[in-house]
Amino acid sequence: MQHTTFFPEDFLWGAATSAYQIEGSPLADGAGASIWHRYAHTPGRIANDDTGDIACDHYRRYADDVELMARLGLNAYRFSIAWGRILPEGVGKKPNPKGLDFYQRLVDALLAHGIQPMVTLYHWDLPAALQERGGWLSPDSAGWFADYARLMFDALDDRVHLWLTLNEPWVITVAGHLQGQHAPGHRSLNETPRVAHALLRAHAAAATAYRACGRHRIGLAVNLEPQHPASDAAPDLAAAQRRDAFLNRWFLDPLFHGAYPPGLADIFGADWPGYTGADLAGLSGTVDFLGVNYYTRSVIRDDPTDPTVRAARVRQDDRPHTAMDWEVYPAGLTETLLWIKGRYGNPPVYITENGAAFDDPSPDRGEAQDPDRVDYLRGHLRAAREALGRGVDLRGYFAWSLLDNFEWACGYAKRFGLVHVDFTTRQRTPKQSARFYSEVIRSGGTNLTSGK
Ligand code: FCB
Repeated sequence: MQHTTFFPEDFLWGAATSAYQIEGSPLADGAGASIWHRYAHTPGRIANDDTGDIACDHYRRYADDVELMARLGLNAYRFSIAWGRILPEGVGKKPNPKGLDFYQRLVDALLAHGIQPMVTLYHWDLPAALQERGGWLSPDSAGWFADYARLMFDALDDRVHLWLTLNEPWVITVAGHLQGQHAPGHRSLNETPRVAHALLRAHAAAATAYRACGRHRIGLAVNLEPQHPASDAAPDLAAAQRRDAFLNRWFLDPLFHGAYPPGLADIFGADWPGYTGADLAGLSGTVDFLGVNYYTRSVIRDDPTDPTVRAARVRQDDRPHTAMDWEVYPAGLTETLLWIKGRYGNPPVYITENGAAFDDPSPDRGEAQDPDRVDYLRGHLRAAREALGRGVDLRGYFAWSLLDNFEWACGYAKRFGLVHVDFTTRQRTPKQSARFYSEVIRSGGTNLTSGK
């Protein structure tokens, strides 16, 4: 179906990053170590034993990076705050002035260039001191998070108008506590649903604190992926449904409908805590807008050997894949946005992450050629526009990522940036995709119609 709808005048055209992935200097100016600092320094955890010690050196080069964003024509930038820079021990009444000052300067520089900040309060770097006290599973975790959030609201709400509490609670839960690929590296079926619940309570506590003192809008960012059955056979249909509950509805159903999807009790069996409505009280009304991180879809078949969801992904060999081996599937973005509109009452949505890793060649004569990323972005921006034309309340798009950076367990081996970073010199070189995205922004998205 062809739609002539274009992006609204006030659409946000941004790029996204997170603290541990780009900042470097993780212990500078009195910052406390995070669980990612500890994890990356545990031999064997990260590809090549890479760490975030220097990363993109953004902590020291932020002013140049903001100028770069301005040159690209971005009117928005999503970044996260390292909790341990603000509160080295994770708790306390007064922020560490030097840590806070970094984010003050960053926000001021963005605003001076007409770039609207979107701030994520938690992008996975829990202060290690809090992990020692039980981490998210501590009964105090929601309070710790709300207290830290309040310090940030007091400091920045005059200039920051878009807040996100958590980035991808599903990944924190599953990669960090079930599969053990992310910090803190646990593998516990019993912990998993409890961590998820603690994250929902922490989100709600911070959002409720915001209602008391904030003047703008707060939401959270979730990773979503359509789950398509590999065949019409009943076991595959059921497996895709189970994985949809597990991946897409686990956090959104409680937030928008006040109940966990029933499928979770089956998945966790005896390890499911049997939450009731009372456990979920206070969650509704805590999301002013939704951040959607979209990368790919999954094709799912029934797999009795998989111990939790009893489902397996089926690789679509005839389709293009990124360097993460994720299928390139732009139509899934439209599908995801329409699904949110239909299931959750059309909340305002920002695409808070979308992008791709490819094995880019090194820059040559001032530009790195990344035609696959250009195709990826063009396809997904068209898919976003299609959703707008079909009534989705889409307010902005943030490419992941501004810079090549520390890609968690993959270290520096996977490059997602619009801008190439040389990890020896830290030199930045915009890629062809950065130029493409700039042209899209300058045309207000109208140039997406031409070409293939
Ligand atoms: C998301 C994360 C982000 C980045 C991308 C590739 O899950 O939020 O930090 O690693 O994936």
